[in-house]
Amino acid sequence: MKVTRAAAGVLSAALILLSTGATGATAAAPDETAKTSIGAPAATTTHRGGSADQSLGALARRHNLRIGTAVDMNALAADQTYRDRTASEFSAVTAENVMKWAELEPERGTYNWGPADELVAFARANGQRVHGHTLLWHNQQPTWLTQGVESGDIEPAELRALLRKHIFDTVRHFKGKVWHWDVVNEVIDDNANLRDTFWLRELGPSYIADSFRWAHQADPKVKLYLNDYNVEGITAKTDAYYELVKDLQEQRVPVHGFGVQGHLGTQYGFWPALNVAENMARFADLGLEISVTEADVRMPMPTDVYKLQSQAQGYNTLLQGCLLTPRCVMFTVWGFTDKYSWVPGFFTDEGAANLLDENFAAKPAYDAVRATLLLGRAR
Ligand code: XIL
Repeated sequence: MKVTRAAAGVLSAALILLSTGATGATAAAPDETAKTSIGAPAATTTHRGGSADQSLGALARRHNLRIGTAVDMNALAADQTYRDRTASEFSAVTAENVMKWAELEPERGTYNWGPADELVAFARANGQRVHGHTLLWHNQQPTWLTQGVESGDIEPAELRALLRKHIFDTVRHFKGKVWHWDVVNEVIDDNANLRDTFWLRELGPSYIADSFRWAHQADPKVKLYLNDYNVEGITAKTDAYYELVKDLQEQRVPVHGFGVQGHLGTQYGFWPALNVAENMARFADLGLEISVTEADVRMPMPTDVYKLQSQAQGYNTLLQGCLLTPRCVMFTVWGFTDKYSWVPGFFTDEGAANLLDENFAAKPAYDAVRATLLLGRAR
């Protein structure tokens, strides 16, 4: 293992945590030496206790893992606490919305790069990598596109040219600034079939291979991902992804990563971490890297202590699965505070899906994730 100075700090913090039992004492350690001696102040259970950086991003460094969050650009502009925490806690960011097609090209031929560029600049200023999300998805597409296809004004040849242009323009615009792209998002449905979208209907299954090839031509260095939900365990759906990857590889299509979104719910239970790891490993064995791209764990409202503990377990199954997979390079949460979660707007009477509550206070899930990062054997 390469021990950086920051990682060494984290290791000593971990030793303190273990030797003191993390009592929650809050006195700040005067220097690095004091922190490693017996009886030195404990690492705290609060954010960034002591002088060492205790953020999730810093704690994950020893695992060679980036911890990311989806970023809501409106909250980033309006809410200083949100902005500060986004900057200090994470080592990667994903645009929650502003890199989706509808946002980038609201009118045909007129690009709106501003908000996405702002996020890229924010990430750069804070030493964060950017996970690009997403080049092709059946949701949040521009109205001119969906209406054009539905009305028959846009025919297959033109549709294919539009997709090619969208991918080239977008990947080129962010060339050198994006770590990975979700090239196609959610292209297999829960019955393990290629999702019935106008892409499939109009262009046939080759739109997937084409999308990867175009993205690779536009930026040969950026890593290219398949991304989906309900892909934690070994199921018919992940079997279908496994076959899709093999098929793409046989056609020499550049595909580099498998993104496990990880939108979980306490009412459904969770795959054990070992099963998550087993599934990730089979994709890693195909030569792919793995990322958890959109972790959140929602619950039927209102919250109670059992649900919050179960939520902590849910986050941990994803994180532990990732840590058990040497090629898992990123663990990204889909927002970090309940204040701005997408969940209540999409799932009736569900919510509280994030690591922090709406007042930015740590929930059991936050402490669980921290503890796992501290305890986990460095990979
Ligand atoms: C969600 C955003 O969080 C919402 O703000 C938006 O209104 C809809 O999309 N899977 C994905 C994400 O890949 O892009 C979705 O994000 C959540 C589900």
